[in-house]
Order: sequence, then structure tokens, then C-alpha cells
Amino acid sequence: MFQGSDAEEVAAMVNSLRRHLQRRERAGIRVTARGNMKGTSSATTRDENLLSGTEGDLFSDASTAFQSGSLAELRAAIGDCQLCKLCAGRTHIVFGVGNPQAKLMFVGEGPGRDEDLQGEPFVGRAGQLLTDIITKGMGMKREDVYIANVIKCRPPENRNPEPDEVAACEPFLKKQIDLIRPQIIVALGKFAVQTLLQSKVPISKLRGNWHSYHGIKLMPTFHPAYLLRNPADKKLVWEDIKKVLSEMRGENA
Ligand code: URA
Repeated sequence: MFQGSDAEEVAAMVNSLRRHLQRRERAGIRVTARGNMKGTSSATTRDENLLSGTEGDLFSDASTAFQSGSLAELRAAIGDCQLCKLCAGRTHIVFGVGNPQAKLMFVGEGPGRDEDLQGEPFVGRAGQLLTDIITKGMGMKREDVYIANVIKCRPPENRNPEPDEVAACEPFLKKQIDLIRPQIIVALGKFAVQTLLQSKVPISKLRGNWHSYHGIKLMPTFHPAYLLRNPADKKLVWEDIKKVLSEMRGENA
């Protein structure tokens, strides 16, 4: 059996798992065996198609959230989420905004101060730049696209999200993507790109090339906040966005 530090490590893991399960229970998420779900909605069946594989295992819960048939239902199911420690410091859950049938979806990292206060993604300085890319660069309206983040609550002092926070929140993003089923995802910055592609390759190597997120075309590019600090790289983002535009116009068919 376990001894000494092994036993302490196992006890810590058990405690951590117990706390995690308690938070899930408070959030109304129950664990049910996969493949034995009565009344499984077509949305859930589609999740299993889109999200099969190891990442999709996060979806093995028959929770209300993951059976949602619309973004509004998903938002309602998330409720006053307590699944991770970020709930303690947030003002608003920043769910996402835009057209539920958008062909194009932007995914960022997580809310900053302005987003936390207003409850909407990309409304601060970096958000203004993203809005300019969409409106002035792409000739679209912000309402035409869908904008979301990997995590829905602001980390303290805008620190990077921690693995347990991503693990708790990322399934909501996956469900959003599955409900919207965009033609193209633009992943903004290292964190979103590496999370969605499950990759440790630097963004500078991934950007500008097409990737696949469960069959959806994904274009990694630099985060608007990075561009505020490194305006010379705006031209690289414009190269990436031009590829997105020509894909949307069917020019690559
Ligand atoms: N940065 C992000 O990644 N997301 C936001 O919503 C705002 C800033």
C-alpha cells in the first residue's frame, strides 16, 4: 500500500477530487455513465461526434449544461457557476456574445477587468482592436460573428489561467462551439491556440496556417493585446485575416 509521502500525495488528490465533485454538485452537474443516458438530446449526440477522443471525455457527464440545445440554455445551465476558484473574484461570468449562427468565431483567453465589469468579451483596449479588425479590416459587423473566451471568469490581476480553471471551464467553450458550429474559428493568442489545439508549439510557428479543431477550420493568430504592445506585427495578423476572408468567400474551394 501507499506509504509516507505517497500516502500524503494520494490523500491530497482525493481531497482535491472531493472538493471538485462538491463544486460540480453545487453547480447541478451530476456524473452519469456515458452511453446510458435516457432522453439524450440530438445536441448531446452531436457533442459526442464532435468531441470524441480524450478531450471529449470531459463531456462524459450528462449535465444540464452539456445537454443544452441552445446558447441561451447553456448560459442558463452555467448559472452562477462555482466550478473553480475564479468564481470568488469575478463580477460577471463573461459567457460570449454575437450571432449564434455565426460562420466565424473568435476565441480569446479570458476576461480582463473591463470584460469582468461589463460581462462581455473583448470590450477593453484589446477588444477595440479586435472590433476594428472585424469591422474596418473584414468589413463585417461585430454582431455577425461570435466572440468567446476559453475561460469565462477573470483571473486575479489578469494572471494566466491555471490548469484546473481551464479544465473546469473549457467544456463550456466546446459546447458553445458545438452549438454554433462555425465554419471558421480564429484563435487569438498563445493561450487560446494552445488550448484548442492541445499543442505546446509556439504561436509564432502555428499562426498563419490552417489547423483543424474537430473538423472546423482554425486559424491561429496573435492576440490583440499582444498587438497593442507589438504594433509592427499587425501586418502578420492582417495576412492571417486575409486567409480567413478568402476561405469565407469560398475562394479556396
Ligand atoms: N482578452 C481576452 O483574451 N479576452 C477578452 O475578453 C478580453 C481580453
